[in-house]
Amino acid sequence: MSATRPAAETTRRDVPLLAIEGLGVVAEATGAPILTDVSLEVAPGEIVGLVGESGSGKSMTSFATMGILPRGVRQTAGRFTVDGEDVTDVRDRSVSSRFAMIFQNPRDSLNPLMRVGDQIARIAALHQGMSRAQARAEAVSMLERVHIPDGERAARAYPHQLSGGMCQRVMIAMALACRPRLLIADEPTTALDVTVQARILDLVVELTEETGCGVLLVTHDLGVVAETCDRLNVLYRGDLVESGPVDRVLAAPRHEYTRYLLESANELEDTDGAA
Ligand SMILES: Nc1ncnc2c1ncn2[C@@H]1O[C@H](COP(=O)(O)OP(=O)(O)O)[C@@H](O)[C@H]1O
Ligand SMILES: [Mg+2]
Repeated sequence: MSATRPAAETTRRDVPLLAIEGLGVVAEATGAPILTDVSLEVAPGEIVGLVGESGSGKSMTSFATMGILPRGVRQTAGRFTVDGEDVTDVRDRSVSSRFAMIFQNPRDSLNPLMRVGDQIARIAALHQGMSRAQARAEAVSMLERVHIPDGERAARAYPHQLSGGMCQRVMIAMALACRPRLLIADEPTTALDVTVQARILDLVVELTEETGCGVLLVTHDLGVVAETCDRLNVLYRGDLVESGPVDRVLAAPRHEYTRYLLESANELEDTDGAA
């Protein structure tokens, strides 16, 4: 058995899990471009960073991929494939539930009036066709999988009874309950304390290795990218200006804007060191 597995994996890795080609997005009211010709790929088991300053279009790339662009924003171009299959029609992406997304403010993304276990169970029932009892058991097991101690007890909690870090773990558990091929994490640790940030990122890395899903990790933090990502894409005003393996891009950035981002990050580090 072990002789056949690597071969199968190699074949699968040849086809990117997600490929975005030539994505264009505009503001409807003004026609102003928000994203211009953005192309990127995520392989199975790979964590791909998407960085750029605030307003550069990171969230719009995520939303367009999930098929959840906000009102007033329209996709004008672009092709999406998943495992080589064309899913450019947004219905093929949302209905397939092959993508899951986690957001910056986990508490805001949870229903404040519903116990977190019930929220996860609802997703499990919907995406995995489980009975209520099965879904409830799955919720507890997902909570334990994201290292929340005493899943039974946590499942009965309401979001306000949990810390920000715990809420983000719950969001990740909900994402996992969709059994996604791709997880889009849009600044998943920005709202959390530094120590909690590191633990959440460790969890994302661990689950990526365990499930073989791909991750598109949106962040403005190059430190996070250096720690977690395999490859990196740099967005500047809706344009993808640089892509490549993290080691190469951080050591020898080719684009002026990437160099600027790196310099700003280093300056911040120096200031932190002095303080
Ligand atoms: N609802 C909207 N209508 C029009 N433009 C928008 C809307 N939401 C965001 N934008 C614009 O899209 C650009 C990219 O935003 P966003 O993807 O949220 O940036 P980032 O996530 O990189 O900070 C911004 O310049 C913003 O002004
Ligand atoms: Mg954003």
